[in-house]
Parts: sequence; C-alpha cells; structure tokens
Amino acid sequence: MLVLMENLIVMDHPLIQHKLSILRDKNTTVRDFRALSTEITMLMAFEAMRGLPLEDAEVETPLQVAKVKRLAGKKLAIVPILRAGLIMVDGILNLVPNARVGHIGLYRDHDTLKPVEYYKKLPNDIAERDVFVLDPMLATGGSAIAALDFLKADGIKNMKLLCIIGAPEGVAAVQKAHPDVSILLAGLDDKLNEIGYILPGLGDAGDRIYGTK
Ligand code: PRP
Ligand code: URA
Repeated sequence: MLVLMENLIVMDHPLIQHKLSILRDKNTTVRDFRALSTEITMLMAFEAMRGLPLEDAEVETPLQVAKVKRLAGKKLAIVPILRAGLIMVDGILNLVPNARVGHIGLYRDHDTLKPVEYYKKLPNDIAERDVFVLDPMLATGGSAIAALDFLKADGIKNMKLLCIIGAPEGVAAVQKAHPDVSILLAGLDDKLNEIGYILPGLGDAGDRIYGTK
C-alpha cells in the first residue's frame, strides 16, 4: 500500500497493478472487464480491511476448545454509485457476505459534468455502520462529492471512498470537500482531458461494463 497522504492510499499490490493493466486495455472484452473489476475490488477491499479490529473468542474443534480471533467492531455497508459502481459490489460481498448494500443513482451530465441524483435507497441502520462508497472512476470528483454529501445528510459519519482509478483533480476536489473521507485507489492517473475523462484512464467505465457503446 502506498500511503501518499493521510487520506489518500494507492493500492500498489502487484496483483492489483497487473489486473489494472488489463482493465485499461481497449481490447479487453466486456466479460473480462467485469471479471477484472470484481477481482480488483476484492483485492482492494482485502487490503483496505487489513486494520479491522479483532476480538477474542472460543470455538470447539472436534478435538478441544480453541482460542480464536473474530472480527469485532462496527458492521459494514457498501454504497455503489450507479451505474458503474455496481460492478464493485460483488468483489466486496465475496469477502464480507453480510455487508448491507445501499444504492445512490447519479449520472454526470455530459454538458455540464455536474452530477444529477436519480435514485437513493439505503439500509435503515447505515448511520451506525462503516461505509465504503464505490465508484470505479473518480474524475472531476463531482459524483463522489455529491454522493458523500447525500450520505452525510443521512447521518453517516464513517465513510471511505473506494475507486479503481482516480485523477489528481478529483482527488483534490474530494479532499477539499470531504477531508474526513479517505480515498482508496488502485491507480492515480495523470490528469483529465478537456471533456472530463481520465488520462490515461480506461475510457467510460459504465459503457465498458455494460457494453452500451
Ligand atoms: C462515471 C463514473 C463516475 C463519474 C465520475 O459515471 O462511474 O460516477 O462518471 O466522474 P466525475 O468524478 O467527474 O463525477 P457516469 O456519470 O458516466 O454514469 P454511469 O455510471 O451511469 O455510466
Ligand atoms: N467517467 C468514466 O467512466 N471515465 C472517465 O474517464 C471519467 C468519468
């Protein structure tokens, strides 16, 4: 893990970086793109949860009582930003099958680049949970900032933003608007182009996941 700032971590594990290299490739098929997105998210979550607190417990093995460690502390919720964020859900549920899942629907207006909310449905107890907000792309940061705004308005305090690729512009914008939210990335890219796409990036994540272009 590369801790670039207190609230900015780039997951530089070799497996993550290798899979990300294939994800970026324009010749990667829709099917492989989906599978790789799930795998990368799972590896990122594995790294991100390294510091989870444990508590002592006992279980009976067939031979004797064993002293064991179990996860303690608060429960997890994940909130994908629709549409592209959905592709990151399974990667986390593979590791934490009981995590609750909320949804926020935002799309980026292609002319203004501003996020427009069209859907929100959250678990009732989400304010008591640690929350990972999921979106593969952090470009201008507009969508992530809006999602974090909406979630904070619902009383959620402990949030981390998990994105596969981030642009420096988006990272800076989120850090300014939500300095309490840590940003976890698989890749920190160079910059945005004039129409708000991440360079080198991977193109439009939603279109590549769902084959809509
Ligand atoms: C993409 C992406 C982010 C957003 C990032 O979604 O999944 O949500 O753009 O851009 P930003 O940081 O400049 O806001 P898009 O709006 O294309 O919608 P989609 O997920 O439905 O494809
Ligand atoms: N959204 C995407 O899907 N890709 C980008 O490069 C920027 C925003």
